[in-house]
Amino acid sequence: MEPPVTELSPQDQLSRLSSGYWHTQAVYVAAKLGIADALKDGPRSADELAALTQTNPRALYRLLRALASIGIFVEADQHRFALTPMAECLRSDVPGSVRSLAIMRGEWQYEAWGQLLYSIQTGRSAFERIHKMPLFDYLSANPEKGKLFDEAMTGVHGRETSAMLDAYDFAGISVLADIGGGNGEVISSILKKYPAMRGVLFDQPSVIERTRANLEAAGLAARCEVVAGNFFDDVPSGADAYLLRHIIHDWDDEKSVAILRNCRAALGNRGKLLVVEGIVPPGNEASLSKFFDLAMMVLPGGMERTEGEYRRLFEASGFVLTRIGPTKSWISVIEGHPR
Ligand SMILES: C[S@@+](CC[C@H](N)C(=O)[O-])C[C@H]1O[C@@H](n2cnc3c(N)ncnc32)[C@H](O)[C@@H]1O
Repeated sequence: MEPPVTELSPQDQLSRLSSGYWHTQAVYVAAKLGIADALKDGPRSADELAALTQTNPRALYRLLRALASIGIFVEADQHRFALTPMAECLRSDVPGSVRSLAIMRGEWQYEAWGQLLYSIQTGRSAFERIHKMPLFDYLSANPEKGKLFDEAMTGVHGRETSAMLDAYDFAGISVLADIGGGNGEVISSILKKYPAMRGVLFDQPSVIERTRANLEAAGLAARCEVVAGNFFDDVPSGADAYLLRHIIHDWDDEKSVAILRNCRAALGNRGKLLVVEGIVPPGNEASLSKFFDLAMMVLPGGMERTEGEYRRLFEASGFVLTRIGPTKSWISVIEGHPR
């Protein structure tokens, strides 16, 4: 196995970091070819896997050997490969699968990150420059990519849900509206923990059919209304709490305030707002939020924010920020009440 980056000289650390895209693309190709699914019943030779995936046997062997050197797959015996704990996560049929995320990051996200320089020079989304339309319009116009994005949200954010449920007490909420609730993973987990609660999931029309199917499969369709719309126009009224997980970080301040004002109008003078995001810590403190911030700049054109920036956003939208509840994950529950 390669030594951890911290044990290397500064020059080698930098060299290793600058080759990060090797890993992105190697993991992507294994995910796209479905190698982990092909290994779920036991080890197989590179030749067998190449025949199954219509790839070049020697080239595929070299890919798997490289991935095995970083703990993804293991060469069990001569040219036969097996799953490792990390490779298990590349299977498509396991809870919390990272396969869709790895594919999404290796395709259109990789392409957009290739133009990070443009984003830094202009402050604008490189994705939008390439595709001539905003990210969420593109996902609506390309249902296959939209479906992969929904699945990838569970891959990237799914593990945050249990951390949020451990840290934040949703008791007392009768109807919870999950605004931009995507595939329904978050509202399903909350409704399962709080059996008396009802839910409303709101998202774009292109997403909602997939969501409905997921809620039916989870046995929650009767407790969760599914509503299609555009949160820049309005959001459904009638809930006593509005949850927005990883919505506000997709947008600039002006658009974020527009969404939050619509939640404020739907809430009236009661109830609460729950924004779930990472908070950018001050100074040099390490935090996933600092690189997510770059991803938000390059992709939807949004940003991660500091505590002060959330306070100002809440205030501009008619809320007072009452509490920031940290979780074991990188996200916090930022609670607000109507002002
Ligand atoms: C980053 S995803 C977050 C999904 C989910 N909340 C989660 O935490 O996994 C953003 C969501 O916002 C939805 N969205 C984007 N633009 C929207 C709009 N104008 N109106 C309603 N939903 C929108 C997307 O379809 C997507 O499901």
